[in-house]
Amino acid sequence: MNLADSEEMAAHLLMRGYALTDQLDQADLVIINTCTVRDHAEHRALSLLGRLRKWKREKDGRHIIFAGCAAQRLGEKLKKTFPYLDLISGAREIDHFADLCDRSGLFAPAPGGEADKRGVTGYVTIMRGCDFACSYCIVPAVRGPVHCLSSKEILTNAARKAQEGHPEIMLLGQTVNAWKEERKTFADLLNEVSALPGVERVRFVSPHPAFITPQFLEAVKNNPKIARHIHLPAQSGSTKVLQEMKRGYTRETLLQKIHALKECGFAISTDLIVGFPTETEEDFLQTLTLVEQAGFSAAYCFKYSPRQGTPAAQLPLLDEKTLEQRLDILLNKVRGLAEHAYSRHIGQQATVLMESPHKGRTSDNFWAQTKKSYKIGSVVQSEVSASDGTLLFTRD
Ligand code: 5AD
Ligand code: SF4
Repeated sequence: MNLADSEEMAAHLLMRGYALTDQLDQADLVIINTCTVRDHAEHRALSLLGRLRKWKREKDGRHIIFAGCAAQRLGEKLKKTFPYLDLISGAREIDHFADLCDRSGLFAPAPGGEADKRGVTGYVTIMRGCDFACSYCIVPAVRGPVHCLSSKEILTNAARKAQEGHPEIMLLGQTVNAWKEERKTFADLLNEVSALPGVERVRFVSPHPAFITPQFLEAVKNNPKIARHIHLPAQSGSTKVLQEMKRGYTRETLLQKIHALKECGFAISTDLIVGFPTETEEDFLQTLTLVEQAGFSAAYCFKYSPRQGTPAAQLPLLDEKTLEQRLDILLNKVRGLAEHAYSRHIGQQATVLMESPHKGRTSDNFWAQTKKSYKIGSVVQSEVSASDGTLLFTRD
C-alpha cells in the first residue's frame, strides 16, 4: 500500500517537473512515506526526519513532505518538533495530494513530465481503510473505515496500467478481499481485471482470512491468471489469543482455509505477532505448531508493540526478556521456510512472468532464472530443474 501511495505522490510531482533520484544530495524534495503499525516503524521515520534537518539547511529551496500513517496519527504537532518540515500529508489525504501540493504554494502547477513506468507490476488501489477492530491494531484509527473504489474506476485504472506496460496487476487494500460493490464480490473483480487486454497476472495484498470464501476459491480454480500466492496474516496459532486479538477466526478455521488454498496450488506467507499481552507459554507453542502445520512459504514475525488508543494497549505488557526469547525461537523456526518452499518446486512446471531477460517470478511468487533469454513481461512455461534455496532454475 505504501509503495502504491508513494508511486501516486511521485506521479503528481513528476507532473510538476520533478524527476526521481536516489541520491539525497541531488534531491530538491524528500517525501517520507510513513508506517505507524508498530512503534519501531514510526521511530525510524521520525529519526530520518531529524537527520534531514542538516540536509535542508545545506541548500535553499529544499523541501520535506512527511506523509502516510504516522503523519496522520501525529498531525500538525510534528511541526513543533520539526519546524523545518514543509508539508504533512496524512494517509487519508492521499486522494487529495494534488490539491494539497497546489495549496502549499511550494510547487509550480506546471503540467508536463510522465509517470514512472518501470517494473512489470502495476499497483491499483481498490479499497482503503478497515472495518475490523483487531485489539492490537492502529490501522482502523488512522486509515478509517472501509471505502471501496467502484469497479468502473478500478477497471479503468488497471486497464491503463496494463496499457502502460504492466502485465502484472497488484490490487491493493488494507483488507483487500473485503472489496464489494452491490452484488459484485472480490472474486468477480479478480476475474474482470484478469480479462483486461494485456493483463497476464493478478495479485492482491493484504487479504483477511474472513473473506477466503468458497466463491473466491472457485474463481481461482477456473482462472490461472490469478497468482498462486497469498500473503495471509495469521497473527497467532492460539485460538484463545486470536479471540483476544478479535481476529474473527480460530486456529481450526484458519487451518481449514489454508488447506483449501493449498489445494488450489497457493504458496502462503504470513505475519505472526509474538508476545501479545495475554500470550502464555502454551499459546506461544501453538504459534510454533501452526507454522509446522500450515507449511508457510515465509513468515514475517513481529514483537508485539503497544499502540496508543488500541484496546490491547490497556493490558500489562509481558516482560521484554520473554518477548525477545519468543521472537528468537520463532525466527529460528521460520528461518528455513523459504528454502524449503523453493526446493519443493524441483521437477514441477512453473509459469514465470519475466522481469528481466533471464529472471522472473513464478505464479506462486518465487524467483526463477531461465536458461534462454526472454522478453520482459512475457510468460514462460518451463520445468524447474534445480534450486539454490533463493532461486529456481528452469530447463528452458
Ligand atoms: N504490534 C506488533 N505487530 C503488529 N502488527 C500490526 N499491529 C501490530 C502491533 N501493535 C503486525 C501484524 C500485521 C502487520 C502488518 O503488522 O502482523 O499483519
Ligand atoms: Fe489491523 Fe485487523 Fe484491520 Fe488488519 S484486519 S488492518 S490487523 S484491524
